[in-house]
Amino acid sequence: MTAPAVPQRLSAPEPGWTDTVDVVVIGSGIAGLTAALKARELGTVLVVTKDVVASGSTQWAQGGIAAALSPEDSPEDHLHDTLVAGAGLCDPDAVRALVTEGPDAVRDLIELGARFDTLADGEISLTREGGHHRNRIAHAGGDATGAEIERALVAAVKRAPDIRLIEHALVIDLLTAADGAIAGVTLHVMGEGQLDGIGAIRSRVVILASGGLGQLYAATTNPSVSTGDGMALALRAGAKVRDLEFVQFHPTVLWLGKSAKGQQPLVSEAVRGEGAFLVDHEGNRFMQGQHELADLAPRDIVAKAIMRQMLASGKDHVYLDARHFGDEKWRVRFPTILASCRSHGIDPVRELIPVAPACHYSSGGVWTDLNGQTSVPGLYACGEVACTGVHGANRLASNSLLEGLVFARRIAAQLAEGLPEWREPVADTRVPGLVDPDVVPELQRIMTVGAGVIRSASGLDEAGAALDKLIELPAGEPGTPGWEATNLVTVASALIAAATVRQESRGSHWREDYPDRDDEQWSGNLDLTLPADSDRARPGTTFVPQAEESHRNG
Ligand code: SIN
Repeated sequence: MTAPAVPQRLSAPEPGWTDTVDVVVIGSGIAGLTAALKARELGTVLVVTKDVVASGSTQWAQGGIAAALSPEDSPEDHLHDTLVAGAGLCDPDAVRALVTEGPDAVRDLIELGARFDTLADGEISLTREGGHHRNRIAHAGGDATGAEIERALVAAVKRAPDIRLIEHALVIDLLTAADGAIAGVTLHVMGEGQLDGIGAIRSRVVILASGGLGQLYAATTNPSVSTGDGMALALRAGAKVRDLEFVQFHPTVLWLGKSAKGQQPLVSEAVRGEGAFLVDHEGNRFMQGQHELADLAPRDIVAKAIMRQMLASGKDHVYLDARHFGDEKWRVRFPTILASCRSHGIDPVRELIPVAPACHYSSGGVWTDLNGQTSVPGLYACGEVACTGVHGANRLASNSLLEGLVFARRIAAQLAEGLPEWREPVADTRVPGLVDPDVVPELQRIMTVGAGVIRSASGLDEAGAALDKLIELPAGEPGTPGWEATNLVTVASALIAAATVRQESRGSHWREDYPDRDDEQWSGNLDLTLPADSDRARPGTTFVPQAEESHRNG
């Protein structure tokens, strides 16, 4: 068995204070803040966020938000492109909810104050990204869409004084009742004030909206807070996590040298949507002839084509050519990317942009039904932390902001039918554990080499064995670095388990020892759970054939 054994709960001091609220929302990006704004009509709401409110992935989203807003487009066309990108593993019911509710959800965002870029006639300006056959990506500030959405949502939350917000707070574990249902959270609040230190908050509902797992890898577009916390919390609370093997590597991340680590600058697909193209070191346009959409093929296809180029040429990157945009277009349409390239000494108006794939998005996550309910009563999930069934094996570009928005609204609509009863938390008697935070750089190296873009049985096996050794190293005192490291190892272990079991290549899961898609054996999803029968648990996998998944609420 390759997947390392991980702690069943985190080592932490006993809570020094308690509090009570109807709904705890963990995370403050588009999904978390939308959920909070809607749920405040139903009861008391507390948003807990690990850093400052705007520090998550939403803030960094460049390209935009996809929705069938143009008269030339339709939800049906958006559905089709999403299903094709998802490589046979999307849940069509979830995608239908996304594409039909998406346009109104975006209009509500505008109503709330988000300012999207418009044309001279006042209509929303729409662009294209990989895998889309229509112009349906709404953008803001040129290439600062996430920042504008986050600004509007934070402003709306500030106008709602009944929403409580605790920044700089890490949720340590979920509290559960004797029947396994959610009863609240334990958390650590850093800094000054009455709520300092470790506390317990009793709640009727917990909504996970804590983002992704990019920090599992050495190079990622994700911010430092993306340490897979929500997925690890859910696993430890007995929830089902699905499709973790499908980690999306964004094809065009600014290449800053071999030793570049941590969050790397994104060069949005919208740059290709506006006419930029990829070239190899000899200047050949290698995407032509590979797919009918060439440079705008779905993301997994472009990332693989780039990796093949890199392997064949022995180079560490390829190039993106957008010199023909000229100075004016670069300044108006892509000011963020222009500034970012120039800050690294590259002038995209005159030079080719060196790019390579880097970890970008987890298509899998905590399993939910169509209303965001996880397999643990009272626990909901939305945004990147969730697996709603929308993305399948590969997310369509710019569907992530939309998914966070639509499914947060769905959760609130579900809760409006009645909040769950209060539950009494039971004392957690499982043996706690902690991983040494100093192992994180090595964990990232191991995951990049063994469970990154290209995988194999032997590589995954070596990665699992190496992680097993890291977990054994003596850990220091409990604290945020150790809790985050333990969450990263937990998610890494589950990811390795799923990637090992899926013996095929599909979407963003690329096995060099099983290079083909195998619909006969692998047309279905992999569920991961943490068995509760030992001090340390190895994530177990269950294959769910696609036919059984035809209706997630069934
Ligand atoms: C991009 O702008 O290329 C990223 C958009 C996305 O991840 O959907």
